[in-house]
Amino acid sequence: MADVSLKDIYKSFYKNEVIHGISCDIHDGEFIVILGPSGCGKSTVLRMIAGLEVITQGEIAIDGKIVNKLEPADRDIAMVFQNYALYPHMNVFKNMAYGLKIRKMPKAEIEKRVQNAAKILELSDFLDRKPRELSGGQRQRVAMGRCIVREPKVFLFDEPLSNLDTKLRVQMRLELRNLHEELGITSIFVTHDQVEAMTLGDRLIVMNDGYTEQIGTPLEVYERPDTRFVAGFIGSPAMNFFSVRLSADGDRVELSRTDSLPLPNVSLSEFAGKEIILGIRPEHFEIAKEGSGSMQIKVDHVENLGADTLVHGHVGEDNTFLTLRLPDIHHFKKGTVLPLLIPPEKLHLFDKKSGNRIED
Ligand SMILES: Nc1ncnc2c1ncn2[C@@H]1O[C@H](COP(=O)(O)OP(=O)(O)OP(=O)(O)O)[C@@H](O)[C@H]1O
Ligand SMILES: [Mg+2]
Repeated sequence: MADVSLKDIYKSFYKNEVIHGISCDIHDGEFIVILGPSGCGKSTVLRMIAGLEVITQGEIAIDGKIVNKLEPADRDIAMVFQNYALYPHMNVFKNMAYGLKIRKMPKAEIEKRVQNAAKILELSDFLDRKPRELSGGQRQRVAMGRCIVREPKVFLFDEPLSNLDTKLRVQMRLELRNLHEELGITSIFVTHDQVEAMTLGDRLIVMNDGYTEQIGTPLEVYERPDTRFVAGFIGSPAMNFFSVRLSADGDRVELSRTDSLPLPNVSLSEFAGKEIILGIRPEHFEIAKEGSGSMQIKVDHVENLGADTLVHGHVGEDNTFLTLRLPDIHHFKKGTVLPLLIPPEKLHLFDKKSGNRIED
């Protein structure tokens, strides 16, 4: 077990800088998820921690010791990849034991560790089987077992669940979380799947284009996104955004010539009269009584998901596209106009230029 510290990490491939200064103190026993779109640099960060990529600038420390120059094998970490390759000719026991064997660990100790890992992963009955005789989820657990038996200080996971079908992913997610609670080993998990991130992580590092956008608990990131990027990336369906003007007093957002919303207990004098970005999550709208409400949606189409309903439509003079998520089942005809209520405490405001959250 160990803490991991990333201090102002940069990475260039040839002259092309892809990681532009990332810092994070990961605590001992913490489950950290690095989340971001494809190509934003998640795997590169993980591979630098593992020692598989040289760090261009900055410092990585594991358990208080700077590891910049240490070989991967000397960092006491174990990594599970998306395309984990098991040895096809070896049975499950041998697959898990192999790494220990080449480290010349005594046989009795290997036996003990493999049996223990198999028990935790519920693989005890499969130790004699070859990988081809296992399901995808079982194979994934063997790959995890290979890491567990090493009893590393840190686990690194690079999208290990992305080859599994939806049902198995959900199951493996729960198993992974249980495993983490049982072993308490510091874990860094890379994914571009926000649901995976929200359910697995103690904290998330949300990345975009080689930068950190926000570091926080899943709820912090959902309830108080620091940037428009994070606001749009976390949550499904994605947050709705509008270009609006703040009133001359800076205490209301003007949705149209006639409609405006009060801001809760604040006056944003700095942005008074200026255009800003307003964000509202689909799940935070309510249908208002007829003749009331602060905006009107004209329904385009409705998707009934069983537990709730997505309503897609347009609002305002410039016909901004909008999605609502309403509890229960609703059948609105195309063209229906619905008055909407927006709780003022559910508004998110962002600077139009920088995309940063405007303090409230
Ligand atoms: N060996 C390399 N040489 C040159 N450029 C690279 C190399 N590895 C990665 N890159 C570039 O660095 C950037 C980050 O890549 P990285 O693999 O870390 O992204 P990622 O967030 O893991 O994406 P994905 O979700 O698709 O796996 C990309 O623009 C990629 O093209
Ligand atoms: Mg990757």
